[in-house]
Amino acid sequence: MEPWFAEEERQAINDYMAEGGWLTEFKRTAEFEHRIADYTGAKHCIVVNNGTISLTLMALAAGIKAGDEVIVPNYTMIATPNSVKMFGAVPVFVDVERDTLCMDIECAKMAITPKTKAIMLVLANGRYPKSGIEAFQKLCSKYGLILLEDSAQSLGSKYPDGKHQGTVGLAGSFSFSAPKVISTGQGGAIVTDDDKLADKVRKLKDFGRSGGGNDIHDSIGFNFKFTELQAVIGNEQMKKLPWRVERKKEIYKRYMNNLSNVNEVSLFKQDLICTTPWFIDILAINRDKLQLFLKEKGIGTRVMYPPINKQEAYRVTGEHPISNKVGENGLWLPSASQLKDEEIDYVTDAIIGFYRR
Ligand SMILES: Cc1ncc(COP(=O)(O)O)c(C=O)c1O
Repeated sequence: MEPWFAEEERQAINDYMAEGGWLTEFKRTAEFEHRIADYTGAKHCIVVNNGTISLTLMALAAGIKAGDEVIVPNYTMIATPNSVKMFGAVPVFVDVERDTLCMDIECAKMAITPKTKAIMLVLANGRYPKSGIEAFQKLCSKYGLILLEDSAQSLGSKYPDGKHQGTVGLAGSFSFSAPKVISTGQGGAIVTDDDKLADKVRKLKDFGRSGGGNDIHDSIGFNFKFTELQAVIGNEQMKKLPWRVERKKEIYKRYMNNLSNVNEVSLFKQDLICTTPWFIDILAINRDKLQLFLKEKGIGTRVMYPPINKQEAYRVTGEHPISNKVGENGLWLPSASQLKDEEIDYVTDAIIGFYRR
């Protein structure tokens, strides 16, 4: 993945600098928030400095506290559990579905204890759980749990009923880090329809100020603000999002088609009507050797997230077969929106060549 900035972003930054703005978040940031709210259909959008802090702030604003258990998938970017670990909540790891790599609801059910406060569902690569988001909503209401969506990988991905991912739980979170479908370098956003939660997040990110531009504080807050420079870039990137969403789908189709006869490799099925694959993620036999082989041909790939419970940072006992399997066989292939068809063919020819040797 490569971020993709061009003349439009350069020109917009130039124009902004020529205006003599203050750089700290203001009108351009508000415009970026409106664009995301409009695109996702959320009532509120609040942008912050990255997609890890957005998870932390939505969890804090939802009332999750130190000691509370939060159920998270064992296959995700480490930011998901770390975001609640940061303030002393306890991430509880459960396995994911084989077909989607989203949380397995049966595993989630088994992990509920009297200390469970929330489920943080991760929409892996824009996919939604096979069991359905409605099943998670039902489970949460049955046990009085908060449903939060880590939709960092989901801009451009919807549920089958047309709702944008991130807008079904109490709140959802997006990331605009360098590899995402649009990027502001770093950046994150919280979307919610809940007025109180939105208000709390706005205060948490701005020192707990009672109002903009004053120094009256009625709550504890910090500084997780965005900048106008990022927003200027983000506004240009948002204009390019519809095209990129379509291109990501084409890239996926081309990989799927080119690799359809390679039994050693499997792509995850993707609902291309509703969702947008951010990355091309595959399970590959002899993954490590394949990766080395591709590297020698100048093709960059990345090993998918290892099972988090086995990472040194957590070391929690338990075997989660699907996340273990991804740890052994999961590989991300080149996936940038700017990838040309010939480049995709070069990658898939190399993969075919590797297994035919
Ligand atoms: C599922 C998931 N959650 C959270 C994050 C963290 O976002 P950021 O890198 O913006 O902090 C990422 C980033 O890749 C992610 O993929």
